[in-house]
Amino acid sequence: MILSLGTGTVLALGLLFLTYHFVVGPKGLTTNVPTLSAAFGVNRGCVECHEKKSPGVVQSYHDSKHSSRGVQCLDCHKPVDGQATMTKDHENVALVAKPSPKNCAKCHAPEVKEFAKSGHAAKAWYAVDGAKDFTREELAKNHLLDAKGQPVKAGKANPVATLIGKDASAQSCKVCHAVGKKNLDGSFGDCTKCHLRHTFEVAQARKPETCAQCHLGPDHPQSEVYNESVHGAYYAANKEKFNMDAPAGTLTVKDFPAPTCATCHMSGIGGVKGTHDVGERLKWKLTPEVAIIRANGGKNQAKMNSVCLNCHSQPSITDVMAKADTTIALTNTNVLKGQAVLTDLRGTGRLGTKAFAYPIDFTYFELWHHEGRRARSGAVMGGPDYVNWHGIYEQQKALIELESQAAELRAKP
Ligand code: HEC
Ligand code: HEC
Ligand code: HEC
Ligand code: HEC
Ligand code: HEC
Ligand code: HEC
Ligand code: HEC
Ligand code: HEC
Repeated sequence: MILSLGTGTVLALGLLFLTYHFVVGPKGLTTNVPTLSAAFGVNRGCVECHEKKSPGVVQSYHDSKHSSRGVQCLDCHKPVDGQATMTKDHENVALVAKPSPKNCAKCHAPEVKEFAKSGHAAKAWYAVDGAKDFTREELAKNHLLDAKGQPVKAGKANPVATLIGKDASAQSCKVCHAVGKKNLDGSFGDCTKCHLRHTFEVAQARKPETCAQCHLGPDHPQSEVYNESVHGAYYAANKEKFNMDAPAGTLTVKDFPAPTCATCHMSGIGGVKGTHDVGERLKWKLTPEVAIIRANGGKNQAKMNSVCLNCHSQPSITDVMAKADTTIALTNTNVLKGQAVLTDLRGTGRLGTKAFAYPIDFTYFELWHHEGRRARSGAVMGGPDYVNWHGIYEQQKALIELESQAAELRAKP
């Protein structure tokens, strides 16, 4: 009897430990797991078959925190409210092939909510095809109606998307802007753009290479600017010193001795709270022809400032930010000079209404869209080469070209 009591106790303790390990995990309960899929047998079916049919999926799933915490295939792939049109029958199980943020929301509601109001969601999708995929309610909810209640930019597709055509746009604009894609359940966005499946890691999302999938090139070279900045140089030389895997919300300068993109724009570090709204720490809106200060600009900048304070003194941060403001103002002045030349020419009726019809249209476009944005990115994130050689210098050159192209058009009979 003593023996069976003993065995019973050991078994019970073992079971308790396993339950703890499964539900709470090694680092303590930071995420609620309300609806772990009850049908364990069905999930075993998915794993066994997919191990053969698509071993890459199962391998990366096994490497994930999700699998170690008992999150199973159907916890993400089971349809939730509003997903009837996405649901299909797969091996006699109701399935969504492409889980949306709505499927993540049952366990990660705060991240989903912050992400939804960020520029990475509906706004990113709107930027390419305009109001085409939006209902009026969605436009209102996502602040995509102007003061007159009309869709921003008249709801039109972006002129460059029109210029390059639907097929090229599908393989370029829409690949990057799919970070905010419209899903069939009405939600916007794709979490897997930063948390690649099926590992869904924070470590990977914190690396600048992840953001560099999209934040690069002639019109928004944040990745190139970072690489040439002191921060980027520090990261490149000391990658192995970074504790990329530290639990979110607990980061200190011990984990991150220098910042990556995520540190400044998203992470909780020191006393600063983390966020999935990448606009939350931005004073400026740097993408338009003329850069403008955001509605909450001052408050936002104070948040960015407190990130810097982890590693720098206030006077040096104030100095860097003031200098950046001066350069941004200079890019604006140059764009306005170019605008004046164009407006003047338009007054003569020489330009017509078609977008991108003359060389001068491209010169003006690049003056703000490429050169202006490049100088601004360089100015705010420590990229001297982008402030000058790819930025202000190119703008000065473009202004001379604009004048000469305008004179040529005016001289035409
Ligand atoms: C008997 C084998 C088998 C079982 C069991 C199975 N699958 Fe599949 N699954 C496949 C195959 C094969 C494909 C490849 C696509 C196709 O040919 O339909 C696939 C495709 C998929 C896709 C992609 C569908 C698409 O349209 O892109 C998802 C997601 C998926 N399976 C998830 C699951 C989940 C979750 C389970 C468990 C509920 C499961 N599968 C069970 C064999 C299986
Ligand atoms: C944490 C949520 C989550 C879990 C857990 C999960 N998946 Fe997925 N799965 C996704 C997402 C998100 C996608 C991509 C949707 C898209 O393409 O937009 C996906 C895509 C897939 C695909 C299509 C892959 C492709 O490239 O065509 C298959 C197959 C699949 N999952 C099978 C499984 C199987 C089998 C399991 C369990 C071993 C599983 N998933 C567990 C979220 C999950
Ligand atoms: C059934 C609940 C559940 C669902 C659904 C779910 N997750 Fe998770 N997720 C968890 C748990 C539990 C953890 C581990 C938390 C911990 O250990 O602190 C986690 C951790 C994560 C992490 C952090 C991993 C790391 O490296 O620390 C990411 C990123 C993540 N999930 C993304 C997603 C995405 C994206 C989706 C939807 C496609 C999703 N999750 C769906 C429960 C879920
Ligand atoms: C799949 C492409 C993609 C990835 C990956 C990506 N972004 Fe973005 N990001 C975009 C697009 C597109 C926009 C522009 C959205 C818009 O139209 O306003 C954007 C905008 C931003 C903005 C400006 C937001 C605003 O309110 O104006 C910041 C800051 C940003 N991203 C930071 C990051 C960081 C940090 C990472 C990596 C952790 C990252 N992004 C990864 C595509 C991406
Ligand atoms: C390599 C990825 C990538 C491609 C391809 C791409 N974009 Fe973007 N786009 C971005 C990123 C990242 C941003 C944010 C830049 C920033 O905030 O500085 C952005 C910003 C924008 C903005 C400004 C949004 C705003 O809110 O101010 C518009 C408009 C835009 N893109 C339209 C397009 C169109 C149209 C195409 C195709 C002709 C395209 N993009 C191709 C990544 C991309
Ligand atoms: C622009 C890239 C990007 C996108 C898109 C993104 N994330 Fe994240 N996510 C991150 C980064 C970076 C971190 C780490 C933040 C930190 O260091 O504090 C993170 C952390 C997380 C964590 C861990 C938080 C914790 O407390 O442990 C979860 C869960 C998560 N993301 C879920 C999501 C979900 C769900 C979505 C889609 C709605 C999403 N993420 C979209 C970049 C992204
Ligand atoms: C040292 C901190 C820091 C790092 C590291 C950093 N940024 Fe920034 N970023 C800033 C600051 C500061 C601004 C300008 C903020 C403002 O508006 O006042 C900015 C602006 C931006 C913008 C412009 C948003 C707009 O208005 O259009 C984007 C996009 C962006 N960063 C993306 C990135 C990406 C991607 C990386 C990594 C390759 C990165 N950042 C690295 C601090 C940083
Ligand atoms: C996690 C720590 C960390 C954060 C956060 C951080 N930096 Fe840095 N920063 C460094 C390190 C490390 C260096 C390189 C050390 C050096 O040059 O003395 C550096 C260098 C710099 C330099 C170059 C200094 C020089 O003398 O050449 C500037 C400018 C700068 N940072 C500005 C900022 C701004 C602005 C922010 C906030 C938007 C910021 N940093 C956020 C760690 C950080």
